Amino acid sequence: MTKTTSINNRRYLGNKYKLLPFIKSVIDSECQEVNIVVDIFAGTGAVASAFQDKQLVTNDIMYSNYISNFAWFSSRRFNRKKIASIIDKYNSMDIQEDNYMTENFSDTYFSYADCSKIGFIREDIEKKYANKEINERERALLITSLLYAMDKIAKTCGHYDAYRKDVEFDAHIELLIPEASMTNNKKNKCYNTDSNELASKITADLVYIDPPYNSRQYCDAYHLLENVARWEKPDVYGVARKMDRTALKSKYCTKSATEAFEDLIKKLRCKYIVLSYNNMAKKGNDRSNAKISDNDIFRILSEKGVVKVFAENYKAFTTGKSDIEDNKERLFLCICD
Ligand SMILES: C[S@@+](CC[C@H](N)C(=O)[O-])C[C@H]1O[C@@H](n2cnc3c(N)ncnc32)[C@H](O)[C@@H]1O
Repeated sequence: MTKTTSINNRRYLGNKYKLLPFIKSVIDSECQEVNIVVDIFAGTGAVASAFQDKQLVTNDIMYSNYISNFAWFSSRRFNRKKIASIIDKYNSMDIQEDNYMTENFSDTYFSYADCSKIGFIREDIEKKYANKEINERERALLITSLLYAMDKIAKTCGHYDAYRKDVEFDAHIELLIPEASMTNNKKNKCYNTDSNELASKITADLVYIDPPYNSRQYCDAYHLLENVARWEKPDVYGVARKMDRTALKSKYCTKSATEAFEDLIKKLRCKYIVLSYNNMAKKGNDRSNAKISDNDIFRILSEKGVVKVFAENYKAFTTGKSDIEDNKERLFLCICD
């Protein structure tokens, strides 16, 4: 029997899976009548997954995250037996062809044999979709399965800024069936756009905001998963074999982060805003320094409504800034006017 995989079975910077009990407990006790939840910087979709009983909207600037979110949260029907049989077939195949993956990534993050298989499978998914053998959700489920399988064996520390030269290729690509729900809310929607573009187009009860905190661009860290998800076969450069990522750069990783955040908050139409923001400012090195100060977060959110801050032990802070400085994981809740 083909093994299965769940939403959390991958490595992702800033993944909030472990914080779900904290996030959920704050929302459940502080927010009333929440029916529509937007996860506007959804990443893996971990936070959205904790609200699957609600109507969900997910969004991420990276296509690789969009496609996984669509696999997990779309209400489009899929045939699980068909997915299992395609995955079984892929797993039993021995592929030795030259393709985009072998030509560009052999013996970097993956061996020649795994590159060959990844390239073959990704091309085959597109063929099956073009021939109408699989629908949009089934395509998303197969791509998600491939991305999760790649993540399991990549010779990296979890991101693709560099590959590890000191270790053997001992694991080989094995696809698992994503355990996606067949009963998702019919009105769920998944977007692949800039958060600030989307903000003025949606209304919701609660918007969860989890932007990047520092100058580290997600498109740099996950360029290879993005490349395989998009499958446009671009030229790649340098030792890390990255494609051109200009269109994927996030303002939240730059000097304009505060401006972008203010614009986003002004545009949102909802009852509650919940923000996760790490406070590494002035503690780590330059690259890990938070781009938006606590003062600015308070100022911007306060213009929208009443602001409360919670730390991981679910304790509301009485005062502002000084109390929260020593807490790495904080949640800002804004009850909008
Ligand atoms: C901290 S991570 C979110 C992690 C997520 N909550 C999880 O649990 O997996 C931030 C995400 O925001 C996305 N992102 C960055 N800038 C964006 C923008 N302007 N619009 C939409 N998504 C953006 C990144 O691709 C990344 O996946």
